[in-house]
Amino acid sequence: MRRVFHAFNYREVATPTFEELDLFLAKSGPGIRDEIYDFKDKSGRDLCLRPELTAPVMRYYFASLKSEPKPLKLFYFGPCYRYDRPQAGRYREFWQMGCELVGDGSSEALAELLQLALRLFEEAGLQRFVLRVGHLEILRSLLESLGVPRPDQPPLMRLIDKKDLAGLRQALDGRIGAARSAEFLAYFDLDSLEAIRVPPDAPGVAAAISKLQAVLARLTGFGADPKTIRFDPTIARGLEYYSGLVFELDAPDLGAEKQLLGGGEYDLSGVFGERPVAAVGFALGFDRTLVALQKGASFAPAAEPVDVVVAALSESGIPVAQQIGNALRERDLRVELDLSARGAKKSLGRANSLAARAVVLVGDQEVAHSKAAVKNLVTGEQVQVTFSEIPRQLEPWMRAALR
Ligand code: HAM
Repeated sequence: MRRVFHAFNYREVATPTFEELDLFLAKSGPGIRDEIYDFKDKSGRDLCLRPELTAPVMRYYFASLKSEPKPLKLFYFGPCYRYDRPQAGRYREFWQMGCELVGDGSSEALAELLQLALRLFEEAGLQRFVLRVGHLEILRSLLESLGVPRPDQPPLMRLIDKKDLAGLRQALDGRIGAARSAEFLAYFDLDSLEAIRVPPDAPGVAAAISKLQAVLARLTGFGADPKTIRFDPTIARGLEYYSGLVFELDAPDLGAEKQLLGGGEYDLSGVFGERPVAAVGFALGFDRTLVALQKGASFAPAAEPVDVVVAALSESGIPVAQQIGNALRERDLRVELDLSARGAKKSLGRANSLAARAVVLVGDQEVAHSKAAVKNLVTGEQVQVTFSEIPRQLEPWMRAALR
């Protein structure tokens, strides 16, 4: 996962395990107090073990990194603590890996961040997961148009986040009447952006929908598998600092605690008395991800592309193929030896399935002429090469493949 973050040009940061309690009380919502391990230190300061890393990283950003060129891309990996009731996949001490992107709220940047989230799980070898993407402005603007002003919305958003639809219906019925309440709850059955009927008095909804569409279109441009991505208008997120695009990723094979990752756009500038800055990020539950990987029995390290397959096509080719394999491995190439002598077609098939960049074939004829058939699997070029010249022949091909 670190490698993936590096590939997306994120820099690793670390912050202290304990923080001032106020940092989290200000913008995470009143519910967070019950979930925090807080204590007074010997000087009577109110401190706590951090329940998450977004607020600490933004504290670090506003204190020390504000003048860094933007967009600024930071990632982290560290223990977090929540006074939750422990159960399978829910711990009081757990590890989060996550990132914050500061200074770019464009559709392109958001799409790249979602692509990064997907890549983390693909590279980890997780077979089944679903990314759900929504926009808080849809829920907030709708609630407002139905008669719930924004300052009164947080308790309702908490019910939505907990998927407590019965509780939500009850709260809404009492406040805006059964008819409007039903109108709002109908959104929970929608599964496509196109199905949303935009109310004329909720301007934020249309803007949110077109932003979401732009992000999802760009995400497709990264080659993301559309089968793993779903629009979900009902994501509310538990923490109150979120502002726009929000998303969650689940492993359907897990039980109640199946949410592996959560994130979105947020604004914490007010907590530090600073001017707003575009910020978006996510965190994944590392322990939970390990559980998901073990459940699917898919705890396989990601396969790296093979540089060269060296294949013996006949009995006489085996000792030669062994020697060539040795010579190439000494040059730090990743070599797959195929000594099964099953014929050129099978060996080429194997090389293709391993996504090898080149294949070296040694059969009776090649042994007789002291030359091997060397094929560039990227360009299709094939040449006959004296055994000792094979490393030199392959060198530019390997460099070209890296570029
Ligand atoms: P969160 O959804 O509260 O978001 O937590 C992120 C992930 O941490 C969850 O999806 C879950 O996998 C894992 N997690 C949370 N609580 C526990 C627990 N008690 N035991 C095991 N795993 C847990 C945040 O924390 C935000 N700071 C994410 C973010 C970053 N938003 C913007 N930037």
